[in-house]
Amino acid sequence: MDILDSVDRTKLPKHIAIIMDGNGRWAKERGQDRVYGHHEGVISVREVVNNCGELGIQYLTLYAFSAENWNRPKAEVDALMELLVNTIRKEAEELKKNNVRMHVIGDFQSLPAICQKELTEAIEMTASNTGLNLILALSYSSRQEIINAAKKIATGIAGGTIEAANINESTFAQYLDTANFPDPELMIRTSGEYRISNYLLYQLAYAELYFTDVHWPEFRKQHLYEALVNYQQRERRFGKTSEQIQTNTAQHA
Ligand code: IPE
Ligand code: IPE
Ligand code: MG
Repeated sequence: MDILDSVDRTKLPKHIAIIMDGNGRWAKERGQDRVYGHHEGVISVREVVNNCGELGIQYLTLYAFSAENWNRPKAEVDALMELLVNTIRKEAEELKKNNVRMHVIGDFQSLPAICQKELTEAIEMTASNTGLNLILALSYSSRQEIINAAKKIATGIAGGTIEAANINESTFAQYLDTANFPDPELMIRTSGEYRISNYLLYQLAYAELYFTDVHWPEFRKQHLYEALVNYQQRERRFGKTSEQIQTNTAQHA
């Protein structure tokens, strides 16, 4: 059976998070500059956004630029910021038309002013859309996000607006950048690296992790579907036994 027919539309994750990795290596393998890989990666972003929208996935978080990526050579960082501005400028109308709502997580203030402006416009333009929520992680560091949450809570306790005894997993999550989004059930990383790279550390606690050797600029519909089929074959036990899960599934069937 074709992989495109193998996905069970009734068992899709609500939220997919992706580490879009391998742009540089993909370009180098073709004798090109790393930046060429970033440009080609935009085609994969468009494809994945469209496919997630068609499938009815509710949330897609894309790791587009990490806080650590500021340490790359200036020319590459500048090219990435320029690509971000141009892409948002070009695609915002299309996102609006396709009922995609855009969000950003990460250290927004650290982005160049022109990036902030384009992003703010796209966020506002798509604010009333009700389809796919597209969340871009930009200048994002999960540890920093957790530290920021701890600081906000500490300030709230000091000011008497928060009671320490009332903090639990879900109240804590309300102080993260992802406060309004459910946790991802599936995390995909491309390009054969088996690490999390400071991405959604709190939110991925029980996500299914899927790694593929495909470089991001080559990632297409078929690869997304392969990840989904693989996800659907897994048994998510959340600490329970397989027997408990199967009894539960049988009862609800
Ligand atoms: C991912 O590709 C894009 C960003 C991190 C911005 P890379 O640029 O990390 O590509 P590789 O991993 O060096 O091949
Ligand atoms: C993670 O990829 C960040 C993004 C994909 C935006 P990196 O390529 O920067 O991660 P490391 O440095 O290999 O862990
Ligand atoms: Mg990389």
